[in-house]
Amino acid sequence: MIKKCLFPAAGYGTRFLPATKAIPKEMLPVLTKPLLQYGVEEAIDAGLTTMAIVTGRGKRAIEDHFDISYELEHQIQGTDKEHYLKEIRAVIDKCTFSYTRQIEMKGLGHAILTGETLIGNEPFAVILADDLCDNHEGHGVLLQMVKLYEKYKCSIVAVEEIPMQDSKKYGVIAGEFIEDDVVRVSHMVEKPAPEDAPSNLAIIGRYILTPDIFEILQNTAPGKGGEIQITDALLAQAKQGKVIGYKFKGKRFDCGSVDGFVSATNYFYAKSEIEN
Ligand code: G1P
Repeated sequence: MIKKCLFPAAGYGTRFLPATKAIPKEMLPVLTKPLLQYGVEEAIDAGLTTMAIVTGRGKRAIEDHFDISYELEHQIQGTDKEHYLKEIRAVIDKCTFSYTRQIEMKGLGHAILTGETLIGNEPFAVILADDLCDNHEGHGVLLQMVKLYEKYKCSIVAVEEIPMQDSKKYGVIAGEFIEDDVVRVSHMVEKPAPEDAPSNLAIIGRYILTPDIFEILQNTAPGKGGEIQITDALLAQAKQGKVIGYKFKGKRFDCGSVDGFVSATNYFYAKSEIEN
């Protein structure tokens, strides 16, 4: 059973400066909800109850968001504005939050290793909140992956087909299809040039990892960009046949880029218009 979800959230968000000068990029809202809350809700929908967040300097707004604001509650209690807090209250009621700080930014692999103290020795999920995913017929991407974990009991990366020229933005996998949408991964490369990419299947920010990944990460040398890459650590597991790539059902937006953020905003706005 997977109970814990790790959220690496220590990055600077330089692509969104000046907005992210004093506000964590994970707190930027799509409509009225911060990116990180979408991720936490996806984890809750997948049955996870413990949210482990790796933060950094200047990220205290994250902790305040997933807490009660007594002053605010008091102000709006009994008014017609109370419903605005309904969703975040439901989130706080359903799960617990723990935090640790990444002192130095040494890459996604390093951020995940920093979270070991919150995860311990059990399989866990990872959500990168700036990859915003909408569910497929009520099934969130992480829920689909948790179900797949019950079958394969190994690390899983969510993958999506990308245009070859975008390979430099992603970890790219190669392997053999063992089901319609499931690949047994044999190779993976972090941000290859298009001519070096082993396929057009890119990893997006949803992972299920078995806890042996921590020891592998401790022994993983800095890779692309001089950073410790989760892709490199996963390659060690893949070489033993222990990584699955899953072509998820649903929609994903790269909210780490302004274009993707605008598309997500338009998409969720149109969706909310239909729902109301
Ligand atoms: C990270 C990973 C990359 C993955 C991507 C998904 O890169 O290193 O393998 O494809 O997330 O969003 P980043 O976007 O943090 O540079």
